[in-house]
Amino acid sequence: MERVLLKGGHIVDPFNGWDGPGDILIEDGTIREVKIHARGDSLEGIRLEGCEVYDLRGLHVLPGLVDMHVHLREPGFEYKETIRTGTRAAVKGGITSVCCMPNTSPVNDNDTVTRYILQKAILEGSCDVYPIGAITKGQEGEELAEMGLMYEAGCVAFSDDGRPVMNSLLMRRALEYSKRFGKPVISHAEDINLSAGGLMNEGTLSLRLGLRGIPAESEVIMIKRDIELAALTGGRLHIAHVSTEGGVKAIREAKRAGIQVTAETCPHYFLLTEESVEGYNTNAKVNPPLRTERDLMAIREALADGTIDVIASDHAPHHRDEKNCEFELAAPGISGLETLLPLSLQLFHQGVLSLSEIVKKLATNPSEILSLRKGTLGIGAQADITIVDINLEQTIKAEAFLSKGKNTPFDGWTVNGAVVETFFRGRPLFGGLRDRLTRT
Ligand code: DOR
Repeated sequence: MERVLLKGGHIVDPFNGWDGPGDILIEDGTIREVKIHARGDSLEGIRLEGCEVYDLRGLHVLPGLVDMHVHLREPGFEYKETIRTGTRAAVKGGITSVCCMPNTSPVNDNDTVTRYILQKAILEGSCDVYPIGAITKGQEGEELAEMGLMYEAGCVAFSDDGRPVMNSLLMRRALEYSKRFGKPVISHAEDINLSAGGLMNEGTLSLRLGLRGIPAESEVIMIKRDIELAALTGGRLHIAHVSTEGGVKAIREAKRAGIQVTAETCPHYFLLTEESVEGYNTNAKVNPPLRTERDLMAIREALADGTIDVIASDHAPHHRDEKNCEFELAAPGISGLETLLPLSLQLFHQGVLSLSEIVKKLATNPSEILSLRKGTLGIGAQADITIVDINLEQTIKAEAFLSKGKNTPFDGWTVNGAVVETFFRGRPLFGGLRDRLTRT
């Protein structure tokens, strides 16, 4: 039997209400015992044969993170990312469950593609992969995809992410059908007629830069429509990458009214504004676009009051040639797997969220929304564990990313907080705790 004992780290697991020093015993990749010191419990005196013991005093022990919005690009765009490189980047970032969006080639709109992704993940992946199936065939917005077959093959949600479902009747049907499987429909909320090929947030800055703008209303209108459809159908709606104050307000009101809606945002929407586009910085081109200071403050407030349930990366890796070009031609997206946790920890250092709230948004809530039974350190759980030094200063270096996508506007940022090691199924992946290891 393989045994690993994690001793004395500060355990943060909101699912179980743990937030303090404790010990965790792992046997054959599964969590067997958890003792929280404040409850008078410990595994201090335990004598075990053939056990790897890690002294984690001074470090934080989190459930492996669940990133519910990732573009792994395979099949079809392997030059941008593969399941191998994307999951390697994920575990480097402390993420052990990756949900991948269907805008591949072919689109993941049928069970054959879903099975292909899952098999590839088993053969080449470094962590668990959960495919998200398309809502419409080819993401064309014209005909529903085979949602039932994709669910049976292993899809955990449905989305046309990258594109909105402009046809309200199709969105209604998707919300109705997905109810049968208990899986949410994830809305890429954008009225493409309003965004009209825009390249950045619409405002005085877009005017000055001479770049076509995307008004906030393009997002707000679709969030409101989808909330109305969720109310009509009783379906489960999840709003992806919320970027606007108006969107936040609509979601807050819907939640108050008891409509089944959850929401997510990404680090770039609570750390950056449209100013980052200055100088025609293509690494700051993303969809939805970076917005104003006012929007950023509204997003932070919504994270703090629980209106926004999830922080996801929206990891969107692109080839350097797709960013080293005119702003108008550049592909939108940010490579985010390796910065998700350190950037989210800034909310802790800035007093916006507690650590426990951050773990909720990075692990507990996404797992619950998708019914994954992950995101916890409870007894019996798969031992996916992220070890973090929350104060360790690091400078983000895009060139050092394991992801093929080096496209990030955070390159060169110095932040506090770093992943020291990731355990997947009880195994440490990087040797980051070598100095703290003894064997019994
Ligand atoms: O910026 C983005 N990039 N937004 C999306 O919705 C899609 C993504 C991509 O696939 O590159």
